[in-house]
Amino acid sequence: MVTGMIYVVMMVFSLILLILSSSTVGFDYYQFTQQYQPAVCNSNPTPCKDPPDKLFTVHGLWPSNSNGNDPEYCKAPPYHTIKMLEPQLVIIWPNVLNRNDHEGFWRKQWDKHGSCASSPIQNQKHYFDTVIKMYTTQKQNVSEILSKANIKPGRKNRPLVDIENAIRNVINNMTPKFKCQKNTRTSLTELVEVGLCSDSNLTQFINCPRPFPQGSRNFCPTNIQY
Ligand SMILES: *[C@@H]1O[C@H](CO)[C@@H](O)[C@H](O)[C@H]1NC(C)=O
Ligand SMILES: *[C@@H]1O[C@H](CO)[C@@H](O)[C@H](O)[C@H]1NC(C)=O
Repeated sequence: MVTGMIYVVMMVFSLILLILSSSTVGFDYYQFTQQYQPAVCNSNPTPCKDPPDKLFTVHGLWPSNSNGNDPEYCKAPPYHTIKMLEPQLVIIWPNVLNRNDHEGFWRKQWDKHGSCASSPIQNQKHYFDTVIKMYTTQKQNVSEILSKANIKPGRKNRPLVDIENAIRNVINNMTPKFKCQKNTRTSLTELVEVGLCSDSNLTQFINCPRPFPQGSRNFCPTNIQY
């Protein structure tokens, strides 16, 4: 009787531990990150072999944690080629640094980030399908958002707030996340990445947590180049 009670108490206790430990490796939002190709090439130590397009294209869809402890390299089936999606992925998610190896980029993003995605994302195909949908049919193409607000790329110094407002207009007035980098040749600060954040079930936009703090190398000042 007593041993039975101890057994039940221990079972309940380990169940609680299990739930606690699984929630620490979880995530509470998704960050859809797009990169501006010319700035990516400028900020890379080795130049891009092929000329970049003046476009924001996908860097990745990242399960993230507002406490800063983002999950990475989770247990999931290994990356496999999905031929059917390639024609679209090449356009929206190119390997800007090496256009001979787009798949290497997709594999790395799946291993590091996609593997940690969970409901509503079910598997690798669904992960890549979801990104295609977000960029194309859900109109989260940042180049298009800016171009519709009449902000065209042109290596111009401009107020970041203009870019921020154009984006806020299409994401329910939520705060995007900006990443900048100093161009070592021109010493101007370029906009490199824009993140759009959604709740963990991908149903609505949220304010992106954790902006790059002032003083960090990726902080965006009031005026930036795009
Ligand atoms: C994204 O938007 C840019 C600017 O409007 C456009 O040139 C590009 O074709 C768009 N990409 C896709 C896949 O729709
Ligand atoms: C989506 O998740 C949020 C919390 O991240 C929750 O408040 C909301 O009810 C969920 N919506 C649906 C439709 O499940």
